[in-house]
Amino acid sequence: MDKSILILGACGQIGTELTMVLRQKYGNDVVVASDIREGSGPLMESGPFELLDATNYEAIEDVVMHYEIQEVYLMAAMLSATAEKFPMRAWNLNMNSLFNILNLGKDKKIDKIFWPSSIAVFGPNTPKEHTPQHTLMEPSTVYGISKQSGERWCEYYSKKFGVDVRSLRYPGLISWKTSPGGGTTDYAVEIYHKALEEKAYNCFLSEGTKLPMMYMDDAIRATISLMDANAGNLTVRSSYNLGAISCTPSEIAQSITSHIPDFEISYEPDFRQQIADSWPSSIDDSMAREDWGWKPTFDLNRITSEMLENLKK
Ligand code: SER
Repeated sequence: MDKSILILGACGQIGTELTMVLRQKYGNDVVVASDIREGSGPLMESGPFELLDATNYEAIEDVVMHYEIQEVYLMAAMLSATAEKFPMRAWNLNMNSLFNILNLGKDKKIDKIFWPSSIAVFGPNTPKEHTPQHTLMEPSTVYGISKQSGERWCEYYSKKFGVDVRSLRYPGLISWKTSPGGGTTDYAVEIYHKALEEKAYNCFLSEGTKLPMMYMDDAIRATISLMDANAGNLTVRSSYNLGAISCTPSEIAQSITSHIPDFEISYEPDFRQQIADSWPSSIDDSMAREDWGWKPTFDLNRITSEMLENLKK
């Protein structure tokens, strides 16, 4: 039998694209999309969809049993900027949803789990450049604390109960199909929309804020490669560092200027600056490269061309 897959948070920035790629790979009927509210377009039309709250264990268990689900991708989360405003809601969503899925794994109701972590697990005392896999972490944001705790629990369930949980520390993700919401790296998506609509963008981070970033196609490919990897090759059961490019708002602006010469950027840093300042500038992802052959393919110029071309349509 084909494997059947459940995606929680399927209508979000990553979930939308991940669902469509998984449906292409495994078949529309065996990839069940779910979210707390309905999405739109191809995601809703191409295969099964369930309204599902990721914090409701019984509801998830019902769907898992009904569709005989084997793999779960838990993409529902509250991101860094929103989490600073609603710390307890962020903690409850980010942690309870993870425990629900880990416990399904522990009880052998599902075989394999993907759970996203983030560069936000690192903090102001972490080495900023080429941040290693294993290093001082001390996250200083609500979101980062929830992701670091989540990583510890993933490793614990893997070691203690043999749960096959796999995870990536995503950098900021740049994509055109679905907008992100409530993150600190969201500027790197907004900037392209504003460049096309208004030829101007007022950035909420300062011009020299260098952060690790990645194009969505690379992120989806990394996710699926990790899930396809031979379990015996995986030496990290907390979460893998994952890198592609590192850039500043001013570098993205420059790359846009080669397509839209009169594009102008201005800077008005807000509370998100402090979040960004606590995160690494670049990531050492050598363990992902060694263990399961990770290699990014999109550089900044290619990302800019793809973003502008697709958003124009
Ligand atoms: N992109 C996320 C955020 O900005 C970090 O994982 O919150």
